[in-house]
Amino acid sequence: MTANTDTAAHTDIDWSTLGFTYIRTDQRFIAHWKDGAWDAGTLTTDNTLHIAEGSTALHYGQQCFEGLKAYRAKDGSVNLFRPDMNAARMQRSCDRLLMPEVPTEMFIEACRQVVAANLRFLPPYGTGGSLYLRPFVIGVGDNIGVRTAPEFIFSVFCVPVGPYFKGGLSPVNFIVSDYDRAAPNGTGAAKVGGNYAASLLPNKEAHDRGFGDCIYLDPETHTKIEEVGAANFFAITRDGTFVTPKSPSILASITRQSLLTLAHDRLGLKVHEGDVFIRDLDQFVEAGACGTAAVITPIGGIQYKDDFHVFHSETEVGPVTRRLYDELTGVQFGEVDAPEGWIVKVD
Ligand SMILES: Cc1ncc(COP(=O)(O)O)c(C=O)c1O
Repeated sequence: MTANTDTAAHTDIDWSTLGFTYIRTDQRFIAHWKDGAWDAGTLTTDNTLHIAEGSTALHYGQQCFEGLKAYRAKDGSVNLFRPDMNAARMQRSCDRLLMPEVPTEMFIEACRQVVAANLRFLPPYGTGGSLYLRPFVIGVGDNIGVRTAPEFIFSVFCVPVGPYFKGGLSPVNFIVSDYDRAAPNGTGAAKVGGNYAASLLPNKEAHDRGFGDCIYLDPETHTKIEEVGAANFFAITRDGTFVTPKSPSILASITRQSLLTLAHDRLGLKVHEGDVFIRDLDQFVEAGACGTAAVITPIGGIQYKDDFHVFHSETEVGPVTRRLYDELTGVQFGEVDAPEGWIVKVD
């Protein structure tokens, strides 16, 4: 066991230096699907899986996952942010890959149990950290042909995390990739591992050139922005409209969906979901990446072929992006009222 996976070594975590790296926590939830039904599932301290060598998850990528966070709120309670949306998205991913859906109630209960069993890993209020939950479904059991698995595992584990991109609310620069992360009628809208395997090389090449990650254009015409690494894109126009791309090959970000609501209802901005052409970057005065892990990461500049386009600034967050960040994190950490149904408490 290395220091990084040793639970005992992390009883006094330095919350201020948390990044987005694996830390072994105490308990995880695991349930099995066989003969048409999920069992009740249980918590376990075992952080390894023992699965059949022919498991479809290993050979044919029959698996999907989710990512959501638990937050220590200002009043000391524990908040899950819109877990019903993650449950619904995982059901859509399961449908796309012919896997059995995990019912919403079971999904949320599993998340609750995992948070409650790992409370000592939940970063205190005020540190900016949170407990990242990773639910997943994998196809397992003896098999060799390309077909759906005879059995499935649903599991949820958690890891305490800080910011995904180093620097928190400091702007990050991105580069437009020549690679596609998804095909036009492929699995881009599902949260399946294959999309992320396809992104490893473009991500490495972006890092090697000094960028935080890459921007993917639409796979059909390569003219419109789709995703920013593992996050959605948004921008603010000169007249203060919140704009975000709409496409069938984008993963429907729950953060983005929430920002559309908060931008409109709380900040009084006009909002627009539609095409965001890469040639039109100069229409925007601010831009950002949004997601559970990325939260809101301001985009300093975007490299596209030989041009480097800077939005607000390469070093300072723009004013609208900051207001969106404050409103979103305010809801998540219980500092401002949440829209109806957005916060689910862990008792
Ligand atoms: C490809 C991709 N896009 C967008 C997002 C952001 O989605 P969400 O806000 O639901 O975390 C994620 C992370 O889940 C992602 O992996």
